[in-house]
Amino acid sequence: MNEGLPPFAGLCSPADALRPGLSVEECVAWMKRHHYVLQRLHQICTARITAEPLYELKTAFSLHAYLCAEHASAIRKRVNELREPPLGLEVIPHRGLQFCCDEILAAPSAKELVLGLYEILVPALLDSVRDYQATTNPLADSPSIRIARFCQLELEDIDHFGRQAVVALVDDEFRAALQPWLDTLRQALSAAGGLSGRQPECGPLPSPQFSATPYVYDRVPRRDARFHDSYNAGVNPEAFLYDERFQPRDKVLMLYYKRLRELDVPEMMAGIIHETAGKPWKFYADMSRQLWDEARHSLLGEAGFRSLGLDWSQIPINFTWSLNLNTQLTPQERHAVLFFIEQGLMPRTGKRYEWEVAQASGLPLTALFQDFDWADEVLHAQLGREWYVKDFPDLKSALDYGDRCWTQVMSHWRDYRDRGLTDHRNWWPDLYRQACARWGVAPDPAAIEFSETYADTRADLKQISASG
Ligand SMILES: [Fe+2]
Ligand SMILES: [Fe+2]
Repeated sequence: MNEGLPPFAGLCSPADALRPGLSVEECVAWMKRHHYVLQRLHQICTARITAEPLYELKTAFSLHAYLCAEHASAIRKRVNELREPPLGLEVIPHRGLQFCCDEILAAPSAKELVLGLYEILVPALLDSVRDYQATTNPLADSPSIRIARFCQLELEDIDHFGRQAVVALVDDEFRAALQPWLDTLRQALSAAGGLSGRQPECGPLPSPQFSATPYVYDRVPRRDARFHDSYNAGVNPEAFLYDERFQPRDKVLMLYYKRLRELDVPEMMAGIIHETAGKPWKFYADMSRQLWDEARHSLLGEAGFRSLGLDWSQIPINFTWSLNLNTQLTPQERHAVLFFIEQGLMPRTGKRYEWEVAQASGLPLTALFQDFDWADEVLHAQLGREWYVKDFPDLKSALDYGDRCWTQVMSHWRDYRDRGLTDHRNWWPDLYRQACARWGVAPDPAAIEFSETYADTRADLKQISASG
């Protein structure tokens, strides 16, 4: 009767089911090393988002931080199932692993950072995760194998991006000059018995190089050359979006601008995550999910402009929201502003309105993007209630505090102009004309005249919607 049916619920062959495997204690010790490195990868990627100028790295670090947080969470849950209390998940498994992560966190520029991350740490973790699956008993330890498979899948994606990033950013001369540091990282891993701890511990710990001076988070956002004129707040897209004189199709340009401008949210949220200590792990994991969503919203804006055949880099993508918040407020105050703004997106006039405009525009891709953007923002309002509002007696006092913090932020609109950082050029008519040429339609004379700035505006739904 059983001819041809796979044994062991299809998990593995009989030979593998009889594999000696590892004890629960050995499995837990190994997985704790993966957990530690995933948490540190999450920390390193998050810490480096704000001040990293390159758009592709900023957004990839946002994704990689989120993925590493997800897999760290899965391992925490699994270790919890393995007879472990006290869990000891905050214990550093070996000084060599810590050394390696500290050095990469403190890498002086993107080149050292991508080499350390994507040529040393991520491949070492990936090897160890694969090795774990080949070593543990697949029947007895099946739940661990399951999470390791998912982890491997996404580490391979990270590794794939990372290898291309290294090729794009690092030339032979730079790599040769950095060889001693890369050897130092390898030496630290050897001293730790490999990332897995399954090899003999080999040699002493090297001396710190970049981490000899402790790393300090850089709160000042930076952008690459495609983001020229980042202080420009010469166009108020919300004013256009809510003006009934204008057509939905023309408003799509402002929607895409607003999405792309959301790059300032990861730049700001990275600081909340990195500079807030002592919260439960789930706080960091949830905030990282939201951070990645915001980076993704920015990428939706890029995709939107690409879909219209427009070069987004000609538009000044403002960054003074993250700059002002990061340099004027504490992490908790920044979180308060974020929640206040995102809560303001929930009524009909917020995300639903943007989606309705997109639906009416006749551009299905815009409607699709706004549909998901809206869904994401509903999630973010929930996360805010979980991790921000609970510190207050009620929702109203949490919102009032956010409102007060936001009022206290100085926009420096005139100051940035007077210091020659921008002339707040009205970039709208140029963009609008190009879009009309693409669409093969004549510009609406009223729309072309639009010239409302942010000079006297606090950018939120008190006036109408802004970031988030
Ligand atoms: Fe959001
Ligand atoms: Fe968003």
